[in-house]
Amino acid sequence: MRLAHLFIVSAAHLHGVLATTQLPLADETLMINGVTFETRARWMRLANQALGELSGSPCPFAAFGTVIVNHTASDEGELICMGVNENGKTGNPSSHGEIAAITNCTKILTDPTGKFRLTATEAAAAFTDLSLYTNAESCPMCASAIRWAGFREYIYGTSIARLVEKGWGQIRIPSVDVFEASFDLPYPSRLMANVLTNETDPYFLWQYDPSYPCPRGCSRTQSGKSCDAT
Ligand SMILES: *[C@@H]1O[C@H](CO)[C@@H](O)[C@H](O)[C@H]1NC(C)=O
Ligand SMILES: *[C@@H]1O[C@H](CO)[C@@H](O)[C@H](O)[C@H]1NC(C)=O
Ligand SMILES: *[C@@H]1O[C@H](CO)[C@@H](O)[C@H](O)[C@H]1NC(C)=O
Ligand SMILES: [Zn+2]
Repeated sequence: MRLAHLFIVSAAHLHGVLATTQLPLADETLMINGVTFETRARWMRLANQALGELSGSPCPFAAFGTVIVNHTASDEGELICMGVNENGKTGNPSSHGEIAAITNCTKILTDPTGKFRLTATEAAAAFTDLSLYTNAESCPMCASAIRWAGFREYIYGTSIARLVEKGWGQIRIPSVDVFEASFDLPYPSRLMANVLTNETDPYFLWQYDPSYPCPRGCSRTQSGKSCDAT
């Protein structure tokens, strides 16, 4: 039983790796689409920091944070919006971090008194210039939303395989499979996997492992079951 379980996990892991023609972007020397790893790392860190800014805790249980950036404006990139998992706040089970961010960006892009003041049609088209950074690989719902939006780039930290390995309930379809199946859609999207996992992993590895330390700025509650801001 234990062996079988291990096999399934490692098969899922292998599948995620073998199915992909995209290699993980963990190499600091790579510059993809003109953007340095250091710049990618900065935006991925902001996806982590979005938790503290938007969820009210630097270490929420559902630690899924997203930022949406315009790298076509400059290689450094310009922040358009952020979002974090809002299930607990809104009661809407589909408000994952990526969906919350896409919803937030849409609002910001079409705000008649805001910086962009786009029409709905213009806002929908604007996503094809943008890059979505998320600190964990998107579930198939969010990966599909990312493809429907036509994002130019999609960059994730901790993989679904890693989440599953560490106790998370997940739908075991890697984003690359969703991307591979979306060839009928008009816009190509570059997928960059496992970016800055040394900094995204700590947000996801404590929830089901009582011996794993809380993310920075947090410590175990008395029961040991969750992490709280210190
Ligand atoms: C992104 O940058 C490009 C190039 O400067 C610009 O044309 C486009 O309007 C920008 N998109 C948004 C949503 O700011
Ligand atoms: C939307 O994004 C903006 C800009 O990053 C941020 O200030 C704001 O708090 C976000 N709103 C929500 C609901 O996440
Ligand atoms: C995580 O790894 C990247 C290289 O992939 C490095 O630049 C960064 O400093 C590391 N972060 C920490 C906190 O050690
Ligand atoms: Zn999702």
